[in-house]
Amino acid sequence: MAAHALNRHLALTGFMGAGKSTLGAQVARRLRRDFVDLDREIEARTGITIAELFARDGEAAFRELEESVAASVLDAAEPAVIALGGGAVLSAETRERLRGRAFTVLLDVDVDTAWQRASRSSRPLASDEPSFRALFRERTPIYEECADARVHDLDGIVLAAAGIDVGIGSIELLGELVPGDGPIEIVADATVAGIHGVTAQLALGARDIATHEVPAGEPAKAIGVLDHLWRSLRIGRDGTIVALGGGCTTDVAGFAAATWMRGVPWVAVPTTLVGQVDAAIGGKTAVDLPGGKNLVGSFHWPARVVIDPGTLETLPEAEMRNGMAEVVKTGLLIGSPVWEQPLAELVRCCASFKGAVCLADPHDRGTRNQLNLGHTFAHALEAAAGYDLPHGQAVALGLVAALRLSGNDEGLAAVRSELDPRPIKVDRDAAWAALARDKKSVGGVPRLVLLERNGEPTWDNEVGGAEIRAALDSLICD
Ligand SMILES: NC(=O)c1ccc[n+]([C@@H]2O[C@H](COP(=O)([O-])OP(=O)(O)OC[C@H]3O[C@@H](n4cnc5c(N)ncnc54)[C@H](O)[C@@H]3O)[C@@H](O)[C@H]2O)c1
Ligand SMILES: [Zn+2]
Repeated sequence: MAAHALNRHLALTGFMGAGKSTLGAQVARRLRRDFVDLDREIEARTGITIAELFARDGEAAFRELEESVAASVLDAAEPAVIALGGGAVLSAETRERLRGRAFTVLLDVDVDTAWQRASRSSRPLASDEPSFRALFRERTPIYEECADARVHDLDGIVLAAAGIDVGIGSIELLGELVPGDGPIEIVADATVAGIHGVTAQLALGARDIATHEVPAGEPAKAIGVLDHLWRSLRIGRDGTIVALGGGCTTDVAGFAAATWMRGVPWVAVPTTLVGQVDAAIGGKTAVDLPGGKNLVGSFHWPARVVIDPGTLETLPEAEMRNGMAEVVKTGLLIGSPVWEQPLAELVRCCASFKGAVCLADPHDRGTRNQLNLGHTFAHALEAAAGYDLPHGQAVALGLVAALRLSGNDEGLAAVRSELDPRPIKVDRDAAWAALARDKKSVGGVPRLVLLERNGEPTWDNEVGGAEIRAALDSLICD
């Protein structure tokens, strides 16, 4: 079974009226993929409607045609989002192709809703209610058989496509959620191991498990820690590394997984808000060098990300604030005040957003740039403060600068009320020098992510050096 839709088609299956066409088009926009609605594709290729095809040639002939169009769509190399007609998976050949080339989600719908929606349309198989209900019962097991995941809404489709499970208590389901049945090595933050380690181990149950503790926080992201992991790991290619902790743990464990045996699967179980809405998602892994953060790393998409917002109950307040800065950043990028939602829901919404952006740009070549909103300034302030500044505080200030340069007063007001950023005392020239060293600088002037209107980020913006310097200076007090 496929674990996610990276480098694969994302196929939507389910009964008539489940919303495959509507949600499929929306998912495709979020993933920046082409959308193929199989029924519309058949109509385009034949020049007549499905209803007419049924009436003219009968169902058997239609199914044959459907199978051949499905084959050509699924054989296309460029990963797309494909909405399958309700009966397309009746074909064993199509089911086989889905297994090989797609990540397939079953879009759930109850039979009453399905009937209400489908009976209003001209679908040939939705003309009388008793046969519609019988067909629903008959087909449900076939959908279940070929689905890699079962979902109910837009965020659910995106999360499944990215390999992400979000839910209170999901850590207790780890045994079912870690793919395969080979041995497991848990890499756990030393503090988190003492709080949630036993739950994770119990959930993994009878599987062959070894646990390795890494130092809490940033010291985990060191070559020495990685070296120790490399010397201790025992799993082969059939094994899986499970990372339990915040972004530091998922970064080092993910990189260990990327390099061990030239790459083994890994599962992230983030236990900080930063980890759940940001760090554990998207496959970037890295360790630090004395010369800078994240200098050695790799892209290695996790086979699964298991997000249990319940684990945040034990997270210190200061760490929650770091996470809230990323939540506010995400809400501004989405264009919706996600920070007003209850914790479990805002985590789900932010995780889905980051999952979509990263699936659309897994190797950080374009779209993913938007995630840097406010971060060019944040990184400069952190460097000038000798990294003795909480990331959330730096991001809150960075957002202020980016939104000011964007002329976005609405965004600024949200950042002020949610994050209350206060100017900090660092050396102005040191901050400016750090900013000029930004990875995305051209001729010493960084390219910025701007947000003129919430929900509409632009990146690679050239802004005058003097304006940038003034914005940076306004974040610093004497
Ligand atoms: N790979 C990426 O895409 C990406 C994105 C953003 C950030 N990051 C990285 O993430 C790191 C920061 O991650 P972080 O903010 O999660 O911090 P962290 O991993 O350092 O964890 C913060 C602290 O919280 C403790 N902790 C974690 N979970 C806990 C829990 N449930 N209860 C009690 N204590 C808990 C940890 O022991 C640690 O002391 C940085 O190194 C950053 O570079 C990576
Ligand atoms: Zn950040």
